[in-house]
Amino acid sequence: MKRIAIMTSGGDAPGMNAAIRAVVRTGIEHGIEVYGIRQAYTGLLAGDMSLMTSREVSGILQRGGTILQTARNEEFKTVEGQRRALRRLNERGIEGMVVIGGDGSLRGASALNALGIKVMGIPASIDNDIWGTNMSIGVDTTLNIILDALDRLRDTASSHNRAFVIEVMGRNSGYLALMGGILGGAEIIITPEIDMPMEEVAQQIEDSYVRGKSHAIVVMAEGAPYKSTQLVDFLNEQETGFEIRLSILGHIQRGGSPSAFDRLLATRMGVNAIERLLAGEHNVMIALDGRDLITQPLEEVTKQNRSMSNHYYDMAWMLSR
Ligand code: ADP
Ligand code: F6P
Repeated sequence: MKRIAIMTSGGDAPGMNAAIRAVVRTGIEHGIEVYGIRQAYTGLLAGDMSLMTSREVSGILQRGGTILQTARNEEFKTVEGQRRALRRLNERGIEGMVVIGGDGSLRGASALNALGIKVMGIPASIDNDIWGTNMSIGVDTTLNIILDALDRLRDTASSHNRAFVIEVMGRNSGYLALMGGILGGAEIIITPEIDMPMEEVAQQIEDSYVRGKSHAIVVMAEGAPYKSTQLVDFLNEQETGFEIRLSILGHIQRGGSPSAFDRLLATRMGVNAIERLLAGEHNVMIALDGRDLITQPLEEVTKQNRSMSNHYYDMAWMLSR
């Protein structure tokens, strides 16, 4: 294999740049030409790609976001779109590709592999919902941002005897809410995966008040069964003992410099992706299994989502008393 392409796709995640740097420099070291595709499948369809040099990836290791930019593209989901993308790659003589992104992006990667491009996936999504890997790139940095916010909000909540509803990201996954809630000492955690009626939330806030707590922290995922604004309106009508405030963390959770963990994970995965491609592996995603990097078939990765153990919900409940 002499020429490959790389793209970042879906929601950006801190550490994507560290992965790009590792892929480009490892590729160059092995005598491969690495083409950078801008704006994911949108750029691929437009043929927006160029040969990357080692200097181009200088000084990006510590930067959040992605220098290649990212996009979401509906046309690429169609067979016609995928054929057009294949044509763009064939025009440049590109035989292999590294796709860095979430489960949707990896579905796209799998489609390209089926058309003959040798694809290697690297999991990157702050949601940590990608099946087959303990951690995806970006999760650790985002969790640390959430913890910083929770610590700050708890200070002001206790000072005023307030309950805070704090909305974190995760449209379909409660990982950030659950882990953020456990590690930030939340009283109540609401995720898309578990049913938690608003009445029960009110009851638990009241219990916290009765137990003598100076605050109550509710961490809820964006994809919870009801909106955070709805919940706050409901809570304001109840007698919980606390005044209620809402804080939506939003996209601040996705930006900023990647943590040491994410830089290391991204760097290891980037290097490993090239080494495995050169060894003949493809149609797989690099995955973290304990301390080791393994591969998982893209077909399996794209069939399911990573689920969370009930053990963590039990732990959260026990420790919030
Ligand atoms: P993420 O990769 O973060 O999960 P999305 O689910 O939005 O983000 O997917 C990113 C892009 O991947 C989509 O905009 C689309 O271009 C491509 N994609 C998603 N699902 C598929 C699919 N089933 N087949 C082909 N391409 C897909
Ligand atoms: O998939 C990552 C993620 O940050 C989700 O947690 C969130 O629901 C979504 O992306 C937000 O997407 P957008 O950038 O389109 O607002």
